Amino acid sequence: MTDQNHSLKAVRVVAPPNIALIKYWGKADVQRNHPAVGSLSVTLDGLHTETHLSASSSDQFILNGKPAPAMAARAFAFADAMYAACGEGPRPSMAIQTDNNFPTAAGLASSASGFAALTLALDAAFGWSLGADDLAQWACRGSGSAPRSLLGGFVRLDLAQDAERIALSPVASAQDWPLHLVVAVTSLAQKKTGSTEGMTRSRGTSPYYDQWLATHAADLDAAQHAIAARDFAALAEVTEHSCLKMHAVMFASRPPLIYWNAASVAAIDAVRQMQAEGLQACFTMDAGPQVKVLCTAECADTVADRLARVTGVDTVLRARVGVGARVLDVAVSG
Ligand code: DP6
Repeated sequence: MTDQNHSLKAVRVVAPPNIALIKYWGKADVQRNHPAVGSLSVTLDGLHTETHLSASSSDQFILNGKPAPAMAARAFAFADAMYAACGEGPRPSMAIQTDNNFPTAAGLASSASGFAALTLALDAAFGWSLGADDLAQWACRGSGSAPRSLLGGFVRLDLAQDAERIALSPVASAQDWPLHLVVAVTSLAQKKTGSTEGMTRSRGTSPYYDQWLATHAADLDAAQHAIAARDFAALAEVTEHSCLKMHAVMFASRPPLIYWNAASVAAIDAVRQMQAEGLQACFTMDAGPQVKVLCTAECADTVADRLARVTGVDTVLRARVGVGARVLDVAVSG
């Protein structure tokens, strides 16, 4: 055994967000944070979380330059669990500094990139050298969408048959199908109800929740086939269906989960207008009011211009399908 307890290396890692085309909403096991349904996502290039982890005399957590107590508690609870399983002796104190180059907690998947980054950072800092499968299990403990950010391109996440582990599989790379993603940011306010709480509410109260579970596998397979065939129209149809079905489950929860605002509706309307004009673009939304538009490279400029002109759209962010999380550097600290 190495002296891993005493030598915490300073590390810098970067992890991209990912956007689910086929959505995860609902948990099979809250304790282990196992999803009730699989999901299929695209990993983004151009937006990222960068996390620095180093030894410190006391635990510190800085998010985008400021202390963030709620996220700090979640991050250190995660670090404690991972260290208890993989490390030895008491966990050394550490400073975690994490920066997103995109809005945090507004439905832009910052928990996915954040926990993918933290998982990799802890593994590299303590020199555990966990395999890809173990890293995915840990990332999932942090956030159900986080394992998908470990891989690039189009990524599928399934719950294994015995429901004991999740299984992450690459579906296609960024080179295989270099699509673009344009985000219409319609509000920078932090979301009112986090995903974990929202999923619990939907499972307990939405009359559509069981149907959501029952019809989900077919959507995953349809999306996977569409990607294999590079069939944009088929992928667009099932992507929008999965998004709207998830939001139907949310709307019908009690109290309702309404993540949309007027500009979200206007942006979706603009996408439908572009589709009517023959542009290859489709929309999706998560637990926030931003509208994410997947499109071909040829029409990405037009999509971005048109979304920027929608009333209520604050900013337009551009990304491409990209590579997964990675360690940038590791150095002996202290
Ligand atoms: C709507 O991964 O944020 O974005 O596991 O509770 O952290 P927790 O949830 P999270 O949920 C993501 C939900 C979604 C759909 C998706 O990304 O698949």
